[in-house]
Amino acid sequence: MKEMLEKIKAEATARLAETSADLEAIRIQYLGKKGELTAVLRGMGKLSAEERPIIGGLANEVREYIESKIEEKSAELKNAALSAKLASETVDVTMPVSPCRVGSRHPLSQVQTELEDIFIGLGFEIVEGPEVEYDYYNFQALNIPENHPARDTQDTFYITDKILLRSQTSPVQIHAMEKKKPPIRIISPGRVYRSDAVDATHSPLFHQLEGLVVDKGITMGDLKGTLELFAKKMFGDDTRIRFRPHHFPFTEPSAEVDVSCFVCGGKGCSLCKGEGWIEILGAGMVHPNVLSGCGIDPEVYSGFAFGLGIERIVMRKYNIDDMRLLYENDVRFLKQFN
Ligand code: DAH
Repeated sequence: MKEMLEKIKAEATARLAETSADLEAIRIQYLGKKGELTAVLRGMGKLSAEERPIIGGLANEVREYIESKIEEKSAELKNAALSAKLASETVDVTMPVSPCRVGSRHPLSQVQTELEDIFIGLGFEIVEGPEVEYDYYNFQALNIPENHPARDTQDTFYITDKILLRSQTSPVQIHAMEKKKPPIRIISPGRVYRSDAVDATHSPLFHQLEGLVVDKGITMGDLKGTLELFAKKMFGDDTRIRFRPHHFPFTEPSAEVDVSCFVCGGKGCSLCKGEGWIEILGAGMVHPNVLSGCGIDPEVYSGFAFGLGIERIVMRKYNIDDMRLLYENDVRFLKQFN
């Protein structure tokens, strides 16, 4: 019996040494319920009382030995597999990587920043106002009468009777004059909302930039000088500006302001539709009613204001014919503004 156990031990050891996979089959063959070692143990009943513990002890030794060998082999196989995997998956860190695509700022943001930089250079301060506004700030304080068409729900998004989404950045003028006494020199860029259907030139959400200056002795000459400087910085040194009389309730006198076409210089081309001029903003001298409504004495102070549409400038500047392109966020469109 002793020899049989020795034989099992030797055989199992040899098989383990050569195998590269099925350790479980080996375990079952020798140590399993119907295994060879188990078979030997079953025959132990025939042994004498003296022999039994000796053979029993030896059998246990052999079992433990085989078990430990199986474990050893299993660890060895795992290590070998890991090494093989590491070797096959080696990363060559010196290989060139595929280029990473870097995004760019949206053209609306780029132009807004450009506008801000110009006005900061002229001594203006940037302020922000709420997009959800009281009727009072969006209309009433701006001298826009009760029955004015802009107040129609066709044009303005109302939240309640008195609260709406601002339809212009002009209400920031009122906030600025309520918070601060003259001299005031501010610009305010931001989103505005109108109840318009989306098409090539309309969007229910767009961007404006408001400007306001209030001090003693401010004249239309200051307005013209400021806008001319702005136009030259924005569109080039040869740019001229032109004022056309217009009406806004919150300014008097009011004007629409054109710049000479920055493509043809005024001769007339497809961008300016043969006009030589491109309309860019509305402006005027702050209406005395607006000043006095904010507690500023129009006999002592005067001011000018202007408001421009940022989309309009972006579209003219980059010759974009459809406003929707600015909101669709198609990367093929946006990456041109890198
Ligand atoms: N708020 C006007 C609009 O949305 C634009 C405007 C015109 C603003 C004249 C002004 C201004 O400050 O003086 O059409």
